[in-house]
Amino acid sequence: MEDECLTIIIKNIDCLVTCEGSHKKKGQEMKDAGIKENGFVVIENDKIKAVGEGDGYKRYITSECTVIDGRYKTVTPGLVDPHTHVVYAGSRERELPLKLNKVGYIEILNRGGGILSTVENTRSITVNQLIDESKQRLDIMLRHGTTTIESKSGYGLDLQTEVKILKVNKVLNDTHPIDIVSTFMGAHALPKEYKMDREGYIKEIINNMIPYISENNLAEFIDCFCEKGVFSVEECRSILKVGRKYGLNIKIHADEVETIKGAELAGELRATSAEHLVSASDEGIKALAKNDVVAVLLPSTSFYLMLNHFAKARKMIESGVAVALATDCNPGTSPTESLQTVMIFACFGMKMFPCEIINAMTINAACAINREKEIGSIEVGKKADIVVFNSKNLDYLIYHFGTNAVQLVIKNGNIVIQN
Ligand code: NIG
Ligand code: FE
Repeated sequence: MEDECLTIIIKNIDCLVTCEGSHKKKGQEMKDAGIKENGFVVIENDKIKAVGEGDGYKRYITSECTVIDGRYKTVTPGLVDPHTHVVYAGSRERELPLKLNKVGYIEILNRGGGILSTVENTRSITVNQLIDESKQRLDIMLRHGTTTIESKSGYGLDLQTEVKILKVNKVLNDTHPIDIVSTFMGAHALPKEYKMDREGYIKEIINNMIPYISENNLAEFIDCFCEKGVFSVEECRSILKVGRKYGLNIKIHADEVETIKGAELAGELRATSAEHLVSASDEGIKALAKNDVVAVLLPSTSFYLMLNHFAKARKMIESGVAVALATDCNPGTSPTESLQTVMIFACFGMKMFPCEIINAMTINAACAINREKEIGSIEVGKKADIVVFNSKNLDYLIYHFGTNAVQLVIKNGNIVIQN
């Protein structure tokens, strides 16, 4: 449903979570989510026009406007998911028995399963089928309160299919309410046709894929899976540096399973963000803090890989790293679209506090995709991307789990979801 409303007022909000301050929140700042009691928000067209407490909203009321009652509700900025692999074909539930039999993630990949099986599915599907499959996941995201995402390629591993995925990002960005920021991730795995020729594939990425993608404006970021058994620190460094030369900003899947100094590489390259970081060393964490790299943590992945340990969010926050959270939505390690699910793992797995969690899914997530000037907080002049949750306060939103608490989603000033 798409409402053509010019002015929307949400009044008497029990818990208005503004996440105000359009910059990376670090340390103690992450504990402040800019909460207002008995708050109001006034939306005009696609922007936020006024924010405050009490009955200051009254002077904005007109005969035409829509007024929403915010009593017993928590209102937050539209959730931002800064790390997804949402464009793919098929599913991988067949890996479940292998996982239960303790076959490791990288071992499944080396047997030709994992990412490579999704690559096969994604190569063989038509563009329209890929749009349809991915759109269904975007619909679920929106229903759960997500209004902007990052979306990576990486299930093509050849120029044609990588471009197909990035074009699907473009089509979905143009046709779906969710805004999509594109990342090229040709270095997600070694494709089977290059099994005996790693260097050949890296050359293909550097000499053909990056130039084509950059010249055709198909991505804003570049990412690499920097992991033992996938791409080494040296390989990632050379790929990412070429990406930067071609105008792409840097993200790195770093130290997800093994400690191989991926976080240090993110610091050295002054990447926009480093992702996963489950096994990041203390030195690596220091490098992130020193170089202002956002740590994008994906705790549903730790859970789903049955790792029994999570990224050290507390240590990162105490060290002054800006922490963001994301779903990692993908068919292998995190088949979920819901940031509300991630809230649970962030709290109970990584011991993050509710205010830290919401900052990590809004303003810090926006920083991880260079969108902090437009989205990620409820402040005058920002895009009117807002979620109304059926929760009397922020703690309740995270405490009560397993259901979708969204009542209303407003995207660009339009009510797009009403549950
Ligand atoms: O972020 N780690 C690499 N890539 C994804 C998983 C992709 C897959 O298994 O299909 C991740 O976890
Ligand atoms: Fe990922």
